[in-house]
Amino acid sequence: MPKSMQTMVAVGDCRGSKVESQQAIKIREATEADNQALIELQARCPQGTNFILGIDSSPDFFARSRAFEEWHVLVATQDSAIVGSAAFAVSETQIEGRRIKTVLEYGFMADPRHRRKGIAANLQKKIEQIALDKNVDLMHLDVMEDNLPSLNLFWKMGFKRVRDCRVLNLIANSEQKVTKQENIRKMESGDINAVTNLINETFRDHDFFQPLTEKELTDCIDRMPHFDLQDILVYDDAEGISACLGCWDYNKIRKYIVEKFSWKMRIQISLLRLASIFTPMPAIRQPGERLLSYNLFLPAFRDPESLTELVKSAIEKAAENQITILNIPLDPESHVTPILSQFRHLKTKLHFLIKPLTYESFSNVGKRRIFIDVSEI
Ligand SMILES: CC(C)(COP(=O)(O)OP(=O)(O)OC[C@H]1O[C@@H](n2cnc3c(N)ncnc32)[C@H](O)[C@@H]1OP(=O)(O)O)[C@@H](O)C(=O)NCCC(=O)NCCS
Repeated sequence: MPKSMQTMVAVGDCRGSKVESQQAIKIREATEADNQALIELQARCPQGTNFILGIDSSPDFFARSRAFEEWHVLVATQDSAIVGSAAFAVSETQIEGRRIKTVLEYGFMADPRHRRKGIAANLQKKIEQIALDKNVDLMHLDVMEDNLPSLNLFWKMGFKRVRDCRVLNLIANSEQKVTKQENIRKMESGDINAVTNLINETFRDHDFFQPLTEKELTDCIDRMPHFDLQDILVYDDAEGISACLGCWDYNKIRKYIVEKFSWKMRIQISLLRLASIFTPMPAIRQPGERLLSYNLFLPAFRDPESLTELVKSAIEKAAENQITILNIPLDPESHVTPILSQFRHLKTKLHFLIKPLTYESFSNVGKRRIFIDVSEI
C-alpha cells in the first residue's frame, strides 16, 4: 500500500444549501484497516438508474485494485467515518502509436446520506492533482450508459465522452458442443512467448493497448488475484497456438446483485428466453439474487474458429460451475467482437470518457478502436 497522505478539503461550493452542509472532509489514501468500512460503504452504493447493480466486494475490497501495477484507493472521511471513496491506476499505454502516461479512474462512491455535497467532485479533484504531479498526460474511465449521476459528475469535471463500447454478458448455457476438445489445454509456462505474440498481434492496432513483453504478461497474470496460468485456455494444434482465452472467477473479487433490471435488459432477457425455448438456459436471476460471473481475459486469436472453440469451452466450464454469465468489455469494431457476439448474450453500453491533462493533442482519441482491459469494469 502506498504511503499515506492527508489533505483537508472543504466539501461543497458556496451556493445555497451546500453552505450549510459544508464540513471538513479529509481525503487520504486508504489502508488495509479500511477494508471492512469500504466493503460496507460499497454495499450501500448500488450503481445505475434503471439497471441497478449492487456490489459485494468481501472479503477483500482491494482485490480489484491489486490487478493493477500502480494503484491508489482514496477515502473521504468525516469525523473519521468513511463517507466516500475513489480509486485510480497509473500506467503507460499507446495512443496512435505514441507512448502516453495515463490514469484510469474507477470505484467512485459516496455514502447515500452524504450525496450532492461535492464528495465525489473533491475526490476527482484530488486524483487530478496527484495525476498532474505524476506528469500524467490523460485521465480516462468507463461508465455504464445507465449511470446518470456518474456521467453527470464526470461531464461536470471536464471529461468528454469519446467512444461507446459495450459489455457483453455471455449466457452460460449448457448447450455448447466443443468439437476440437483434443486441441484445447491449459496454458503452461512454456507457452508465454506464443501467447504474448498472439495478444500483441490481436490488439496491436487498438488505442489504449501497450504491446506486452513476456515478462509484463507474466507479471500481469501474477498480480491478478485468484488467477493463474491454469486459468488461461490455449488452442494448440499442428500449427501451434492459434488462440488463447483467460477465464477469471470474478466471484472471488466481487459479487454482483441485480437490484433492478432496466426495460432494455428485460426485453433482451425475454428475447433470449424465446430463442432458447428448446435449449437449457440458466435462470437469469431475480432482483436481489447474486449474479455469479466469470470475466473473460485477453481473448486473442490468429484463427477465429480456434477462439470460438475456446469460448465454447469457457461457457461449458461456467455452466458446470453454476455460473450465470461471462463478462467482457469490447470495442464494437474490435475483431474479437463478432466472434464473441455469436454466442447468446445480453449487452450494456459502456461510455468511454477522457480528460487530457497536457497540451498534447488528443482530438483523435475515440476515432480508432480502443482496448478495454477486463480489470477496468
Ligand atoms: C456518482 C456518485 C459517486 C456521486 O457522488 P456525490 O458525492 O453525490 O457527487 P457530487 O456531490 O460530488 O456531485 C458532483 C456533480 O455530479 C453530478 N451528480 C451527482 N449526483 C447526481 C445525481 N444523482 N443526478 C444527477 N447528477 C448528479 C452533478 O453534476 C453534481 O453537481 P451539482 O450537485 O452541483 O449538480 C454517487 O451518486 C454514488 O456513489 N453513486 C453510486 C455508485 C456509482 O455509481 N459510482 C460510479 C461508478 S462509475
